[in-house]
Amino acid sequence: MSIGVVKAHNIPNTPRVVNADPIPHGLDGPRFMSSPVQLDDPPESPSQRVDKSRQRVRRMFSSIARRYDLLNHLLSLNIDRSWRRFTTRAVPPVAGEAILDCCTGTADLALEYDRAGQGRSPIVGADFCREMLVLGRDKIHAAQADERVVLVEGDAERLPVPSDAFAVVCVAFGLRNVQDTVRGVDELIRAARPGGTVAILEFSRPRGKILGRLYLAFFRHILPRIGQAVAPNADSAYHYLPRSVLQFPDGQEMLDLLASRGLTGLEQHPLTGGIATLYVGRKPAALATAPVS
Ligand SMILES: C[S@@+](CC[C@H](N)C(=O)[O-])C[C@H]1O[C@@H](n2cnc3c(N)ncnc32)[C@H](O)[C@@H]1O
Repeated sequence: MSIGVVKAHNIPNTPRVVNADPIPHGLDGPRFMSSPVQLDDPPESPSQRVDKSRQRVRRMFSSIARRYDLLNHLLSLNIDRSWRRFTTRAVPPVAGEAILDCCTGTADLALEYDRAGQGRSPIVGADFCREMLVLGRDKIHAAQADERVVLVEGDAERLPVPSDAFAVVCVAFGLRNVQDTVRGVDELIRAARPGGTVAILEFSRPRGKILGRLYLAFFRHILPRIGQAVAPNADSAYHYLPRSVLQFPDGQEMLDLLASRGLTGLEQHPLTGGIATLYVGRKPAALATAPVS
């Protein structure tokens, strides 16, 4: 079965859209395993840098895809929905202009933007994990948004989308997983049109003493157990989660990184005591990609 190719409306040269694909026969067959799961992967020690190799990250999300939404809402007590809603309000769609949701997963933020824009903006969701995209495609279909929200398979370090094309480029809980963070940020900026907005929603470390301690205890000791019980996987995805968050730049460090890549008008919005933060910046005209002659 080949992957269907459909062009996203109003977005030239956007390949490998999966919305039009027939529903696969099952997600567990060899066709959907990007690589065999290593059952004897050793658990990582907390002092090690977290392994964000593409193969590992993709395999991890493949294996938890079916339980991903459930766990997201369960572990955050549904607060994750309000964070995405906040994002669409802080960085609203521009009617008629395209939106890119990088690392779209099961398309929650893409669909939130579709609701926020009342269907007036074409939306592209990109992700390199097909199992997540297939679930996202079903949600888009259920929301009768197939005409407006298309999904493309692609790596955040080499997004399969044109440059300078999107009024809003967003990513929710995805950038942290990208192997080369700077390259991921550069790709978000490349896809945004001059004057467009880049919005990055990501977990962060709460600064308050009490909340900080409670959060760390929950994140390190309780969340991995619940995660592993509800979505058993060989890649310790819910051990990876706290470790990847604790090793990822947040707050001013993230703003400095975004400024160093050329974004301007930077803002940060800590959410729920700083458990998550929305970072927002504008792409100046000077960063427009020169047209290829
Ligand atoms: C934690 S999920 C977030 C999904 C969604 N944005 C949300 O808000 O629920 C992270 C997603 O990023 C995707 N991802 C991680 N690294 C990626 C990469 N290098 N290129 C494309 N997608 C990537 C994973 O496949 C996964 O679907």
